[in-house]
Amino acid sequence: MREIVAGGLEAARTRTAHLTDIDEAELIAQHSPLMSSLVWDLAHIGQQEDLWLLRGGQAATQGVLAADVEKLYDAFEHPRARRVSLPLLTAREARGFLADVRGRVLDGLERADEQELFAYVMVEQHEQQHVETMLATHQLRDGEPVLGHGTPLPPGRPVPADAVLVPAGPFTMGVDVEQEPWSLDNERPAHEVDLPAFRIARVPVTNAEWQRFIDAGGYEDPAWWSPRGWEHRLEAGLERPLFWSADGSRRRFGIVEDIPADEPVQHICFFEAEAYVTWAGARLPTEQEWEKACTWDPVAGRRRRWPWGETEWTPALANLGGDALRPAPIGAYEAGASSYGVEQLIGDVWEWTSSGFDPWPGFSTMLYADYSAPFFGGDYRVLRGGAWSVGGSAIRPSFRNWDHPVRRQIFCGLRLAWDV
Ligand SMILES: [Fe+2]
Repeated sequence: MREIVAGGLEAARTRTAHLTDIDEAELIAQHSPLMSSLVWDLAHIGQQEDLWLLRGGQAATQGVLAADVEKLYDAFEHPRARRVSLPLLTAREARGFLADVRGRVLDGLERADEQELFAYVMVEQHEQQHVETMLATHQLRDGEPVLGHGTPLPPGRPVPADAVLVPAGPFTMGVDVEQEPWSLDNERPAHEVDLPAFRIARVPVTNAEWQRFIDAGGYEDPAWWSPRGWEHRLEAGLERPLFWSADGSRRRFGIVEDIPADEPVQHICFFEAEAYVTWAGARLPTEQEWEKACTWDPVAGRRRRWPWGETEWTPALANLGGDALRPAPIGAYEAGASSYGVEQLIGDVWEWTSSGFDPWPGFSTMLYADYSAPFFGGDYRVLRGGAWSVGGSAIRPSFRNWDHPVRRQIFCGLRLAWDV
């Protein structure tokens, strides 16, 4: 098990190195007020690893960095837009710091017992989450492309644009640590939820479908928007997904290209998703509906670990890992379907749900007590399933992501649902 954990840490570090192996000027620049500079993310990854794995989360004890330097990497202290003006470590210093911490961490891992492994995997997931954040920064930056086009993906196939019926009845929502030892606090505990019947779209909403919404004047008609959504639509001047141009092209990691019709739409905020579903005569699924459609096996009467069954993720089952730099076309993962026949739930795009971010009944905090609890009940909507940008070890069907309803630099899309 220790080798698997060490391998996971190394895989996350390889991704970090790949995204930060660029000119110093690019690393220290503020590419968007929404994001940290890449060099901040880089040192913050090491700071969190130092805090949780070398000091057991005791922030008052001396770490590898001097206390005043370490404070610069406290995400709660410094809003993203202001991090660039702090006296941060240079890229070279940050890389040296990360290597120093990692060396000590691997020494500690040698001696860690089973109970202690959770912290290592939690830190690995933290790094994978920052890799995704750094991908969003790369997507926002102007200038010459540095990441290329992305690796090939499986081809799509024609899939009926239909809705799948999920009959009424109870299912097991969330997970326990016995089944999912690396689950984070907000995914636990497992509990029974009884849902009325609903229908859910077999696949996510595509770029072509989103274009029809634009062509039908979806952005011009307040009838489709919530009052708050419409106010934001006017204020922010929303007319189409982020990174799309009026001429039918989009910018993806610095490359301008035609918008692929059969790819799940991404870079739309919750308010846009809300308007689209209303226009389409549908609604967004709740988190509970999404998770039931993803995991419940009504024949066996039990929960699956993954939509496709018990086996671990492979690139044939879902688009994860970040190398593709884009979602896969609709129909690319027939073998990844859930027991109800719903496809592309894991990977491709984060899916907005209608749910706010609240604890499950019986919630208790984990080692990193401030991971979820400070955010419960805030102005967030939950997103499910992970995107192409997510590391394979940093997603589970129970995994809950949350963000402000106006955010769209993240790799997010949507799927329709209906009452029965
Ligand atoms: Fe962080």
